[in-house]
Amino acid sequence: MNREKLINRTSSYHHQLHRGLGTKISVAPGRVNLMGEHTDYNDGFVLPTAIDFFTCVCGSLKEGSNVSITALDFDNEVDHFDLQDDILPHDDDIWKNYIRGAFYFLKMEGYSLGGCALTISGTIPKGTGLSSSASLEIAVLNTLSELFGLSLDNLKMAQIGQKIENEFVGLSCGIMDQLSSACGIEGQALQIDCRNFKITNITIPTSLSLMIVNSNIKRQLTTSAYNDRRRECQQAAEFMGAKSLRDITEKTFLSQKNCMPELLARRAEHIITENARVIKMATALRKTNIEEISSIMADSHTSMKNLFEISTPEIDILVNIISKFINVSGGVRMTGGGFGGCVVALLPASSVEGVRQQIQSQYPYQTGLKACIYLNQPTRGVETVQGIFS
Ligand code: GLA
Repeated sequence: MNREKLINRTSSYHHQLHRGLGTKISVAPGRVNLMGEHTDYNDGFVLPTAIDFFTCVCGSLKEGSNVSITALDFDNEVDHFDLQDDILPHDDDIWKNYIRGAFYFLKMEGYSLGGCALTISGTIPKGTGLSSSASLEIAVLNTLSELFGLSLDNLKMAQIGQKIENEFVGLSCGIMDQLSSACGIEGQALQIDCRNFKITNITIPTSLSLMIVNSNIKRQLTTSAYNDRRRECQQAAEFMGAKSLRDITEKTFLSQKNCMPELLARRAEHIITENARVIKMATALRKTNIEEISSIMADSHTSMKNLFEISTPEIDILVNIISKFINVSGGVRMTGGGFGGCVVALLPASSVEGVRQQIQSQYPYQTGLKACIYLNQPTRGVETVQGIFS
């Protein structure tokens, strides 16, 4: 389903349910990261792009202080709460917490809210590391900002989104996903400095297709393993007397490496070299230096596999199948938080069909799983749009 159809579907359902006047509608994209994995919470650099999979949120004002939310993708399941009561996380239905969290933090920060009804639907494959949750947070926050005149800017929405994850959902993530969904630009990757949130646009060469392959691995214990990595990075930084790994140069690291616990040294080495790869990748993209792109992406994957230990055998198989086919005419690596999810490839359009065939014939044979292949466009960030009834 494309963006247009998603907006029509969500807004016509919303109209049937609420016949709301002055309905506000937001659409926020997912993201794929091209370089810089787990560097965001180390105050480092990332290079994501927003992609043309979206979450759409329609909202209408209601009398009183009741909030009702209908999730079209969860069999029209409804969540209700009263803004005058404490807003608490739901124990089982995790989707509800991304929205409850938005109300919770806006209320905590003193924004004036009121009763409303929201209807939500999206096209981002859930739980695959393409940021369906960040795009939900950003779309909800943008709709609430429009409904209640809160004037939240993109950075503020991203920061609240990150807080929802950290303090309401329990994932100690960085800010990359939320900033990508809020600030995406058509045709561009965003080089983000996660220390000061400065964004530099990097054009993705139009000669390269953006392919994402979903391994369809059921991700397990991802939250605890992710939070472990964050803690280990913090410990490594402290060991070297720094606030974060962003502040450690390769030279300092090499001088301290052998005194550190081996596990912490491996985690630190990934982050320090991955930060450098973001800068190199941005230059390689600018110059359309495909061989360089290929080699940086390969190094990044090896680092995630061996040093940060966030890949899986199935993801490695996908990376091998693709890299064997494209060789140095493109690049491929695992993308996102890890422990399953997707790989991302930048490859010539002429290789797309061949890669597809290789994946379809080899991946099920080697893993017993079927992969899903997506071709995406680098796209723009959250927008307020018109629906068919607004
Ligand atoms: C998840 C987190 C991000 C980031 C990536 C890994 O997507 O939400 O903040 O840390 O993993 O790069």
